[in-house]
Order: sequence, then structure tokens, then C-alpha cells
Amino acid sequence: MPRSVQSPRVLNIEDLRRVAKRQLPRVVFDYIDGGAEDERTSRANCRAFEEVTFRPRCAVATPACDLRVSVLGQSLSMPLILAPVGSSRLMYPRGEEAAAAAAGEAGIAYTLSTLSGCRLEDVAAASKGTVWYQVYLVGGRDCALSAIERAKAAGYSALVVTIDTAVAGMRERDLRNGAKELLGDRFGSKLPFVSQLLTRPGWLARFLADGGLMKFQNVVIPGQGPMLYADVTAALGDAVVTWDDLKWIQQAWGGPIVIKGVHTADDARHAVDVGAKALVVSNHGGRQLDGVAPTLRVLPEVVATVGDQIEVLVDGGIRRGSDIVKALCLGARAVMAGRAYAYGLGAAGGAGVARAIEILRADLIRTLKLLGCPSLAELDQSYIDVPAGWPTGRAASRNG
Ligand code: GLV
Repeated sequence: MPRSVQSPRVLNIEDLRRVAKRQLPRVVFDYIDGGAEDERTSRANCRAFEEVTFRPRCAVATPACDLRVSVLGQSLSMPLILAPVGSSRLMYPRGEEAAAAAAGEAGIAYTLSTLSGCRLEDVAAASKGTVWYQVYLVGGRDCALSAIERAKAAGYSALVVTIDTAVAGMRERDLRNGAKELLGDRFGSKLPFVSQLLTRPGWLARFLADGGLMKFQNVVIPGQGPMLYADVTAALGDAVVTWDDLKWIQQAWGGPIVIKGVHTADDARHAVDVGAKALVVSNHGGRQLDGVAPTLRVLPEVVATVGDQIEVLVDGGIRRGSDIVKALCLGARAVMAGRAYAYGLGAAGGAGVARAIEILRADLIRTLKLLGCPSLAELDQSYIDVPAGWPTGRAASRNG
């Protein structure tokens, strides 16, 4: 592991974020770090974890902390799944493969985004663990169907369908940094923005050695081949999915479906109705509709409504293992995290992702011991205090 991400330089995810900021051109770092509009939801996701406080049981010895959980019937070494992160190959050469390999090595699952630069077959081959495929309908139904077939053949064990992208959120940092121009093919439009690439010669050299601007290898347009790289805003403008689409998606996939982007108990019920096996309480890391509630606040409402019918995951704002513990206390089976590992990827490739996972794992064990809780299975609301005024599960469930 490179010294730049070892202790004591990097002790937590925020340290990885700082290293990534030094390594990456602004346009790439801000793509990871930024949210929509005023980034209120993005910040609120993190703040929600700060607002929940612990109620430890002291003078209790917890010699062995088993972190294993089962998600969709698969055993993970800890309750963490790497979330789909678009454009990871811009963060580090063959970024999706590097992240999947680190996840597999750590015994956790990796989710590949449709908006990725590496072929989904190569990503599955890079991991010795569980891989999930996240599908957007970019490129249309036939294009999605061919990706679904390929994902099945390559051994992906769950299909994640993201439902909160009727259009892309207003990501002002991407617009200001010229993400669209830099990723487009008109040389003249790039010129006002290229200086930010030149200030990161290490990244630029790695990027060029990796082949430069890549294609969306898993969005293969019939008769045309892989879609040319575009900025994510343009790609998502074309990606709306509806509950009706779930029918053909389900039929084509035939395996477990995970609905990602549930903000309310009503949509959680929809996810159950369409036969999904898991859902992710997610606001896309605050990258879509700014002003929605932080995910941790929504979680109890969803767990109370459908927690006995579907596996409930949550993402958004996970920066510490103690955040994972809080999510589990509020009923999540496991969490997904995107930025936490993407900072690691930008900082040092696969080694940075491995470091992010290692940090979260060590945090988890320490937090359980300090809480006097012998196992994840025993975490519940008695280990935390939730701010007055937060909806509790029962009050928020419209079905009572
Ligand atoms: C892709 O899904 C993104 O949020 O950038």
C-alpha cells in the first residue's frame, strides 16, 4: 500500500478525501465530491449521522466481533457494499476493476455502474467476490437488455435498478468545471477548461496511459457499438425508469432485483409490489433532488413499513464505521457507500479502496466494543438516541 494512504497520513475517510483532492483534477474530484444545487441534502446526509448519539453499555467485554452479514443470501465479511459510482475509470486507470478487486479481496460486494469505462466482464473477472450490476436505461431498452444478458453471463448476482434519475440533478460544480466540454469531442470547447488537467500531471500521465477518453463499454448501442463517453448529466437525461419498466427488466434478469433510490415508505411498498428482493434508501448521495430528507431519517419509516418483506439497505453520508453501526441500529441490514471508497480510488487506486474498507472495518469493530455490543445482530435502537422530532418508525408509517 503506498505511504500516501497509510497511517498516520490517512486515518479516516476525510484524509482519503484530502489525498484525492491533491491527486485529481478539479473536474474529477468535484464529480465525486459534489451534489446537486446547494448541496443541502448531500451535507444533511452526513449531518444526520452526527445527530444520532450512542448509548453504550460500559464494563462489558466483547472479545470477538463477528461482522459477517448475509445480503440476498450471500455472506459478506462486513455490512458494506460498494455503491455504483459512475466514471470511476476517470478517477484511476481501470478504476472499476481496481475497486471490484479490492472489494472482492475484502469479502464485500461491489456494484458496477452502467456509466463505467471498463467492460462488465473484466470487472467481474477482477473480483473474487460478489458483484452486482446497476442498470440505467441509457441508450434505450435494447441496449439495457444486452447489458442485462452480459451481466447474467458474467456472474453478477443482483441487478440494481436506480429509480431517482428522471433527469440528472443540477450539479453546478460539473457545469462550472466544464465536465461536458472536457468529455465531449470538440477540441475548441475544451480549451477554456484544460488547465485544471495540466495541474495534475501524475493523473494526466496515468489517464493517457490508460487510453485517454474511454467509452461507456456497457452501453452498447445496437448497430453502433459502445456509446461515446459523455458527461453523466447528458447520460442521465436519457435514463428515466418507471415501475412499469420493472416488469420487463425483471423478466429479462430473472434474478434478485435491488431498487435503489427509495425516499419514502410509499416507494418502498412499490419496490415490494414489483417483487424486488432488496431496496436502498438512497437520495443518490444528494446528487439528484436537493432538499430531500437525509437517508438516515427516512430509514426508520421504510423499515417499519416493509422491513419484514424486503431487505433494507441505506446509503448517503457514510464516512465512519460508527455511521454503519447507527444505520444498523435503525434497521438497515447493510449499507452502501460510494464517496467513501471513490476518494480512496482517486487517492491511490485499488490500494486506496482497500484502505477505505480497512478503515471502516476497524471503526466498526472498535465501535461495537466501545458500545459493549457483542454482535451486529444485537444492534437496535436501544444503543442510540435519535433527536427529538425525527420520525420514529411507527409514527412515520402511513399504514400504522
Ligand atoms: C451517476 O449515477 C452519478 O450520480 O453521477
